[in-house]
Amino acid sequence: MKVLIVGSGGREHAIATAVAKSSKVDKIYCAPGNAGIGQIAECVNIGAMEFDKLVEFAKEKEIDLTVIGMDDPLVGGVVDKFEEAGLRVFGPRKNAAILEGSKAFSKDLMKKYDIPTAGYENFDSPEAAMEYLKTSKYPIVLKADGLALGKGVLICNTKEEAMDGVRELMLDKKFGSAGNTIVIEEFMTGREVSVLSFVDGKTIKIMTSAQDHKRAKDGDQGLNTGGMGTFSPSPFYTHEVDEFCKKYIYQATVDAMASEGREFKGIIFFGLMLTEEGPKVLEYNARFGDPEAQVVLPRMKNDIIDVFEACVDGELDKIDLEFEDNAAVCVVLASDGYPVSYEKGFEIKGLEQFDNKEGYYVFHAGTALYDGKIVTNGGRVLGVTAKGSDLKEARANAYEATELIHFENKYMRSDIGKAIDEA
Ligand code: AMP
Ligand code: GLY
Repeated sequence: MKVLIVGSGGREHAIATAVAKSSKVDKIYCAPGNAGIGQIAECVNIGAMEFDKLVEFAKEKEIDLTVIGMDDPLVGGVVDKFEEAGLRVFGPRKNAAILEGSKAFSKDLMKKYDIPTAGYENFDSPEAAMEYLKTSKYPIVLKADGLALGKGVLICNTKEEAMDGVRELMLDKKFGSAGNTIVIEEFMTGREVSVLSFVDGKTIKIMTSAQDHKRAKDGDQGLNTGGMGTFSPSPFYTHEVDEFCKKYIYQATVDAMASEGREFKGIIFFGLMLTEEGPKVLEYNARFGDPEAQVVLPRMKNDIIDVFEACVDGELDKIDLEFEDNAAVCVVLASDGYPVSYEKGFEIKGLEQFDNKEGYYVFHAGTALYDGKIVTNGGRVLGVTAKGSDLKEARANAYEATELIHFENKYMRSDIGKAIDEA
């Protein structure tokens, strides 16, 4: 069969790598893709938001299944466009992708269906938000309602910071219309865990757990980024946590969406915080996490096409998801200066050392082909993933492997997986 993947990051490279392993697949296309994806798929120069062109391409090439990797097209309704054209597509429709597209929606859903999350209020007027902040407890959390590249969350220690935050989000429109509505939420403390799942509208199957490192610098200092590294599984995601989430969070979310007439098919990513009162939902995403996909998918034993198709056909109950009994760590190699400003266009050397290196992967995020050479083309450049029999071994392998790659401006955190030592 022929598969089209929509997106261009490390996540899409990890998806393409899993798809390429399937015995059912003869040809993979990726729109728009990147230099690494181009080694296993044919990249086509169509942007992820060019829905009509994507549909036209899928029809012309008789694509059997399209997989949407990114949040923007999902929230924008790309799945509806494919379905209207009679094409098979993996991902939630627009009315379900709102689970990620609107934080106010997701908070109201959790409240209505008693799904554990931080206390909150939604505001669409800056005056009302500021009035509320006068009597709030601090720290407090402000969130832009809409998509903001994971950067629309402000943790405010004082009333003054929070007032400034409201101005930034709602009046200065730092994240555009994403800040028309904001959520003001109680500050929680605890460890964070990412749990990805496949959903077919009714049934939900949980993948193995992972942990992201969102800040740019060691010791969780510096600015928020798209993610600087991950490990899987999380040693903090214990059997008790799993039992709790199965009882109160996972199926409850899928059922809540169905009850609202917003049947969810695709990936639900649960961003959880393990608080003293138990696990609570920090956020939902409607797609694989990046870089979480880069440690979770290499450990998955199933043929991913079987799982995608079961979701599309509403037959996920027939699938047993299986993961290897090992661990994986991904260290992101970024351009120095990310996420603020950085240079690109530097040649990347050493990639060939990963060819056929069992248990190792280099997922491309921001790379491009220029003059026959692979060059840096973004803030997050590569994700170097290594497996190991346990987390410590995987971490040692991943850091050793980062030394095989060279480019000017190479920057990485040196403490990805440090939490493993505290487990
Ligand atoms: P989100 O995009 O909602 O996951 O938020 C981004 C990050 O902000 C999370 O990964 C947390 O580290 C932090 N965060 C979000 N909400 C809260 C909260 N209620 N309390 C404490 N930290 C939070
Ligand atoms: N790694 C977090 C995300 O994909 O949103």
